Formats: sequence, structure tokens, C-alpha cells
Amino acid sequence: MAYYFSEASHTFGEYLLVPGYSSTECIPANVSLKTPLVKFKKGEEPSISMNIPLTSAIMQAVSDDKMAVALAKEGGVSFIYGSQSIENEAAMVARVKNYKSGFVRSDSNILPSTTLREVVDLKERTGHSTMAVTEDGTPEGKLLGIVTSRDYRVTRMSMDTKVADFMTPFEKLIWADADTTSLKDANNLIWEHKLNMLPLIDENQRLKYMVFRKDYTDNKENTNELIDAQKRYVVGAGINTRDYAERVPALIAAGADVLCIDSSEGFSEWQKITLEYIHKNFGNEVKVGAGNVVDREGFRFLAEAGADFIKVGIGGGSICITREQKGIGRGQATALIDVVAARDEYFAETGIYIPVCSDGGIVHDYHVTLALAMGADFVMLGRYFSRFDESPTNKVKIKGNYLKEYWGEGSNRARNWQRYDMGGDKKLSFEEGVDSYVPYAGSLKDNVTVTLNKVRSTMCNCGALTIPELQKNAKLTLISATSIVEGSSHDVIVKDKYYRNEE
Ligand code: IMP
Repeated sequence: MAYYFSEASHTFGEYLLVPGYSSTECIPANVSLKTPLVKFKKGEEPSISMNIPLTSAIMQAVSDDKMAVALAKEGGVSFIYGSQSIENEAAMVARVKNYKSGFVRSDSNILPSTTLREVVDLKERTGHSTMAVTEDGTPEGKLLGIVTSRDYRVTRMSMDTKVADFMTPFEKLIWADADTTSLKDANNLIWEHKLNMLPLIDENQRLKYMVFRKDYTDNKENTNELIDAQKRYVVGAGINTRDYAERVPALIAAGADVLCIDSSEGFSEWQKITLEYIHKNFGNEVKVGAGNVVDREGFRFLAEAGADFIKVGIGGGSICITREQKGIGRGQATALIDVVAARDEYFAETGIYIPVCSDGGIVHDYHVTLALAMGADFVMLGRYFSRFDESPTNKVKIKGNYLKEYWGEGSNRARNWQRYDMGGDKKLSFEEGVDSYVPYAGSLKDNVTVTLNKVRSTMCNCGALTIPELQKNAKLTLISATSIVEGSSHDVIVKDKYYRNEE
């Protein structure tokens, strides 16, 4: 007879934290969100920890090098998506490792023949008003000029005017040498010449970086940033159970600090083979997470196979249709609680602590705190990060609202067959994810700051100044369907909505 779990499967929205005693010491400013990323022995320190418990999902619509830099600046880690060529993924990792704070690679590039109409469209899509005009329209092409919104007036000029006719040409630009200019020198030039942006070029006039005046305070303010021993940003990278023999060495050579097997369902021999191959050929210094699993057995299997952290979650992601398509999965909260129990048992038995990551299904900021309270060491988020300026996708305006695109790795758009492959025919035979929009939400920094302020504040309500204290002392309660209704504003007409409906 089949096995039946005795408890129903629950999700985060069905739980609340019950406050505990908090002393006067327990204030958000005293809370530490430091958390281990990889396994460690009792009494020792993990070789990689994060300053905040957030990682960004291994997805095309979420984690590229730009996202990785932005998140590392705040203290977390991005896992660059693996559903791209080995060469491209390694190049993204290398860009993060070579990133010089304050030196930005140009991401809005145009040609002298580009029209004003195209410039306006590009600005709308990226939100960036400074564009580099290069000979071939690439980020590192020969710099011919710059266009900013001060160079044109849409009300006075034909939309067909070519960039060559209104750009500030190279001869009139203040620029600096990319090889010899430090950030301090660049900022001095910006102040001296009252510039908004200083381009840095090589000996062939090719654009290398741009330094922006607006980033000046930003560059000084990242006290939480996550850096390695050589002061480079920490970055992770996704791998699969197919081409690891080629992909892993390329990612290590590019400087990846940690890898993660990206799979929709990780309780499989493929993962064991992959972990064993990596540890045998590249040594235990190469850190590799595995998953996803949703129960004790799955955890134990990956722990024994050598995983450095273990991801939990099947079917709970916002773009995920795995449960509808295949009927597999488990409520995220229940899965997490079960896996955490197995992690703690394993620790008691072996003295090895394997961090657990709750992956997918975080809808509200407080779900992060719930996941930590239930024992997760960190969370992985896709939808959350996809809404920000730093995600790799287009920003679009539909019916007056700004949205960003967000698609699942199991959608036809991503075509990530390796994530779903069961030893089959190298293609997706049916979709497990959708292609969608999410409301645009601004910068990563602003949003992460608010989210973590809420986490710290709730931790104080629970009398916890650290994540391990929260895991140990949290009191959680399941809530009834009626209590869920009570938890939102109710029996009043919220003014905002009322006025919006009247319009
Ligand atoms: P979210 O934060 O709720 O949007 O969930 C993100 C997580 O969903 C990722 O980290 C993956 O584990 C998972 N995921 C990504 N793409 C797909 C898909 O196409 N189908 C199912 N799950 C997916």
C-alpha cells in the first residue's frame, strides 16, 4: 500500500509567529542576519557565510552578473543561471569577479545611425538616460559620443533625427584612461568638471567602463557587502547533471565561489553521480549545493552524497505549474519543517551542519522570517528579484503600469531541458513553468532594505538577535482560514481602493 503522510501539506501563508519575550537589547539595529552558505563541522566556521539570508534564483529572468553584483553589495549571493552556454555563464561569473565597484559596464548602447525614436524607446525600457554611442553599437565598441536627455527635446525635434546629429561627440567629452584611473581619480574628475558620468576608455578609444556621479554615495555605503579574500564579490553559479565535466572547470576557472545543481527534483541518482564526480575530480574545496527535495529521505540522500547545502521546494514557485502538470510536490512550509528536522538529526549524529535553503514560494516579506524561524538558513527567491531594475529582463508599460517579464525555467521560453531531464530526449516534452509579468518595483537596494527591516523587526518581537536564536526559540502556529481573513484589513473600505474604483 502507498505511504500516506499523516499531516496535510501547508504553506507559509497558513502560519504565524507568536511573539516571545524581548529585552531592551532586542532592537533591529542589534540584529545580525549572518548565516552559513555551506556545510561545516561543529565548532568550526563555514568557509562561506552570507551577511543576509537571501540568494537569487538560478533563472534566466533573474540572475545574471548585474543582479549578482547588486545582491553581493547587500550581502547575499546570486546563482548565475546555467541554462545558457558554458562560455556565457563563465563570462558572467568572470564579470562579477572582475567587477570594480563604481565602474559600470555600459548597458544602453546605440549607433550614430540610431534614431531619436529608438533612443526614447530604449530609455523607456531600461530607465537609463545616459547612452554610449559606439561605432558598432556594442558595450566595448569605439566610443564616438554620449547621448543624455540633455541632448534632445522630443517636442522640438523630429523623431527620425539621427543620434549623430545630436549626441555630444567624443571630441567634446571629458574621459579618462581605463587602465590607470582609480575610482577616487574618477570621482575627482567628476567633481572637478561637474560631470554626471565619466567614460573610461582604452588606448584604442574603446569604451571599458562608465563612472556615474549618482553612484558616489552608493560606492561608499556598502558596509554589508559580501566579498572574498581578494575583496571581489562572492558569486554562485548553477550547474546541471549533464555537462558538469565541462561546465564545472570553466566556472571554477572563472572564479565561481559556490555551485548549485539546478534541478526541479533532486532525490535522484543523477545528483549523486554529479556530486561524487565533482568532489573526486575537483576536491572538497569546490562547494556544491544540491536539490530540490521535500522530505527527510531526500535530505538524507543528498547529505550522504556530499551536498554542501540542500535546497527545499517542489511546485511552490510563483511561475511553477509542476503540481498541475505532474501532481508532485509538497506545501513549502511542511516540506521545509520536515527537511530541517532531518538536518538537525544529521547534525546530532555526525557533527556536520548542512545549511538548508527554502527555494520558491516567498510571496510576502514576512515569509522570509517564517522560513528562517522554521529552520531555513537562507531563502532563494525568483519573483522577488525579477521585479527590480537589476534583473535581466525588459521593463514594459502595459495599461499605464510598469511591469517586468518573468518566466520559469520550465517554460518554453527558457527551454531548460537539463533542469527537468529524467534521462530522456534532450527536450522539454511539456512545460512546467509559465511566462509572466510582475509589477516593476524599483531598485534591489531599496527593496531589500525594507524587506530586511521587517525581518529584523519581527525577530525582535520573537526575542531573537540572530538567525540561530530565531530557529531555536521561535513559536509558530498554524492558523485557520478565518484567521487568515482576520489578518488582512477587513470590514473597512480601504481609501486607496475606493478612489481607484471611482475613477
Ligand atoms: P519564486 O521565488 O516563487 O518565483 O520561485 C522561484 C523558484 O521556482 C526557483 O528558484 C526554482 O526553484 C523554481 N522554478 C524556476 N522555474 C521554474 C519552472 O519553470 N517551473 C517550476 N519551478 C520553477
